[in-house]
Amino acid sequence: MPKTILAANWKMHGSKKMLKEYFRDFLNYSSELSSNAFDKVETVFALPTIYLPFAQDIVQTLPIKLAAQNIHQNEKGAFTGEISADMLLDLNINRTLIGHSERRQYFGDTDAIIAAKVKLCTEKNIKIIACCGETLSERESGKTQDVVERQCMAILDACQEVSLLTIAYEPVWAIGTGKTATAGQAQEVHAFIRKLLDKKFGPQALEIPILYGGSVKAANFKELMQQEDINGGLVGGASLDPQEFSQLLKIAVTVQV
Ligand code: PGA
Repeated sequence: MPKTILAANWKMHGSKKMLKEYFRDFLNYSSELSSNAFDKVETVFALPTIYLPFAQDIVQTLPIKLAAQNIHQNEKGAFTGEISADMLLDLNINRTLIGHSERRQYFGDTDAIIAAKVKLCTEKNIKIIACCGETLSERESGKTQDVVERQCMAILDACQEVSLLTIAYEPVWAIGTGKTATAGQAQEVHAFIRKLLDKKFGPQALEIPILYGGSVKAANFKELMQQEDINGGLVGGASLDPQEFSQLLKIAVTVQV
């Protein structure tokens, strides 16, 4: 059984002031949860890299994991503005998102580049939440499975250590649009991804969590979490509100399929 993961993706949002206030409020809102809530649901915050050390100071005594949103595929070199895997490890951060659709869309992350990042992370023992998902036109032209398969196989073929891998299915048309995939639409793709994982890795694949992302909020998360192959969420907009995000945590803790 894969573990349940609730991951926040703050994208390019936040400030030192916000971080301080956010975690104070998030803990207050989460105080009614049972003490083992964070054992039941791995709670991850993918923050702007520049704030990770500051966030570490704030969350050091909390059962919260921090992650980057991206790393560069090369170990080091003349790549102005980029962050390496070793730099992340140097900060004692061993998690990152890889291949988010905004990276694919705006920063030229191709399947080959994403594969190189996944490979590097698995060599360096960095845990990965690797993203995939189709655009609206791809869905409308019946290409969802083809796209998801192509993106996933690039990730799976590059992954050298299954225990480091989490997949996030994020239909691009649902990201930041307020349009969520229905629980049925999401489950259908998650079941398809589960099959790809099975085919590639056999029984080990059963441990790989598959998260859903795309306009997740408290109002739609319960139904999504009730689906057999949905093991958690990757949350953008709603993760910026500590009250809403603690609601999501509550749902993830209570809905164990
Ligand atoms: P959203 O973003 O929840 O704001 O749709 C999800 C994501 O991009 O990871």
